[in-house]
Amino acid sequence: MPDKGAKPRHIAIVMDGNGRWAKKRFLPRFFGHKAGVDSLVRVVQACIDRNVEQLTVFAFSSENWKRPSDEVSGLMGLVLAAVSKYLARMGAMGVQIRIVGDRDAVSDKLRKAWNEAERVTAHNHKLVLNVAFNYGGRWDIVQACRKAIAAGVPAESLTESRLNEFMAMSHAPDPDLFIRTGGEVRISNFLLWQAAYTEFVFSDCLWPDFGEKELDAAIAAYRERDRRFGGVKAEEPQPC
Ligand code: IPE
Ligand code: IPE
Ligand code: MG
Repeated sequence: MPDKGAKPRHIAIVMDGNGRWAKKRFLPRFFGHKAGVDSLVRVVQACIDRNVEQLTVFAFSSENWKRPSDEVSGLMGLVLAAVSKYLARMGAMGVQIRIVGDRDAVSDKLRKAWNEAERVTAHNHKLVLNVAFNYGGRWDIVQACRKAIAAGVPAESLTESRLNEFMAMSHAPDPDLFIRTGGEVRISNFLLWQAAYTEFVFSDCLWPDFGEKELDAAIAAYRERDRRFGGVKAEEPQPC
């Protein structure tokens, strides 16, 4: 169990506020998403500099398909462009890329780009960047249950830790710190299972403006928290 004051090993971020960032500048929403990609690259480097081991970012939710089709197709194109623009740099930075989410609904082109990004960075160990794309916490729980059933796990042996083996983030410890930018104070179906004891920090900063200063503020807030995991503070007298 991490001590009070310990640095977060795993940070999860809901990168929200791209649309409002663009609106403030009288630009189409697409430009907010474009600036959001650059912000992500900066935050990845900042996390490496702070010895964060895992960074999990919410890039596209299961519900984001509800957006106008031109925004959805703009986002898909942007992701493809980002992979070709930044993959080599991410590799050189020592980043291992993992995509978490339902790949069935994305185009063949995007699926191939994801597979390639994972393949060429698989040997890197400085930071694991989990990109949640077409991801939803409820989807994750359902897909894990389906996999457990398909694997023939008997109902009586389906424990929390056994089910966790089938979850999309089973390769990572649960997030220590959950940051949401953009001023909204909700989970929006991100990491429902994994965030059971995660510390939450909500920032009004719009994602394209989020940088080292805001990351350090979130980490500092996290380090002030007293994580008890349902127990009691170590210094509190125990009843005899
Ligand atoms: C988050 O920014 C990015 C995605 C959901 C893809 P938004 O697009 O939700 O930005 P706002 O919340 O409308 O400002
Ligand atoms: C959450 O943001 C999803 C991502 C950042 C990818 P949304 O903007 O989609 O969330 P809501 O609609 O405000 O809850
Ligand atoms: Mg939003």
